[in-house]
Amino acid sequence: MFSPTILGADLSPVPQVRQKLASIQYVQGNIMNISDARFEQDSFDLIFSRLLVLGMSNWKVYIERCVSLTRPGGWVEMHDFSNAVHHIPTHFSSLERLRPHSISISEIANSSHPTDSYQNPSPWLWETTFGKLLALKDVDLYCGTKIPSLFAEAGLIDIRIKRYMIPYSRWGELTDAERAFADYLQTFARDVMPVAIRKAGENVGLAHAQEVEEAVKDVRRYYESFEGGRNFLWLTTRGGNVLGMERYGESFMMYQSYLSWSEAKDDELFIGLGKVLTNGIQEFANEKAYGKEEVAFMEAVAESYDPEAFTRG
Ligand SMILES: C[S@@+](CC[C@H](N)C(=O)[O-])C[C@H]1O[C@@H](n2cnc3c(N)ncnc32)[C@H](O)[C@@H]1O
Repeated sequence: MFSPTILGADLSPVPQVRQKLASIQYVQGNIMNISDARFEQDSFDLIFSRLLVLGMSNWKVYIERCVSLTRPGGWVEMHDFSNAVHHIPTHFSSLERLRPHSISISEIANSSHPTDSYQNPSPWLWETTFGKLLALKDVDLYCGTKIPSLFAEAGLIDIRIKRYMIPYSRWGELTDAERAFADYLQTFARDVMPVAIRKAGENVGLAHAQEVEEAVKDVRRYYESFEGGRNFLWLTTRGGNVLGMERYGESFMMYQSYLSWSEAKDDELFIGLGKVLTNGIQEFANEKAYGKEEVAFMEAVAESYDPEAFTRG
């Protein structure tokens, strides 16, 4: 009988508010040099990571590390943002081009996809400053677009890339799911971004103090122009997925909330934000269900690989 081993690695312990799953063995450590003997070269069938945009430094080395841990024929799958804010020009009324789509490495490299014209020619000041401050810490705010070519450089083949539009403001043509996400990001822009920009400005020298304050002011202006702004970001994914996401014609994302903060005085703010987010997602999820075909497929896979329901928590 096949019983899969699922290891969940993170620098931080699992937050107390989150329930641990019996099917996962949690390992605390830096994925780059974790001392756990189970992190052996060529040993994983699948390595999956997502939303490391604000956590990971040196993506090239990280991807090489993941590739070396994966067995020949296995898969590496990553989902991450590129934090360039795009703006849809006023003369476009259709969101057709923004629906989830496949894109190639060369289209990304040559900026030749039709939606590339939506990239802001003059980005928001907060966006540029935030990106610059994080780059000083070797954190890449635009990693989402760079990961596919790093995959190729690390020797991966059969690279499949898909992009999802994440609305970064709210406008008329959005679906309910997109609107719900935009509602969350509006709160994020108002409450979390100023804190994040100040945090990014820590320990980078006094020379940047003025820039940080200007960026915080700019993010407030950005928040004020949220309604009708027609701004969005790309979430880029690579790899296959057994959940049957293809049946959706609308933008869709798999998301696990994660907030961290350093000072107890912010507890109420962040716990409140977390609840707004998870309650909203839960309400939305209750209205949706997997299609019959996907459920049958997942049950068949689960039955053959995991007859004792070890991984079904
Ligand atoms: C935004 S969270 C995403 C969490 C989770 N992947 C999810 O999708 O909900 C980023 C996580 O990456 C972890 N992280 C960043 N660099 C890491 C490293 N070198 N090794 C292990 N974990 C790391 C951070 O501790 C943080 O929990």
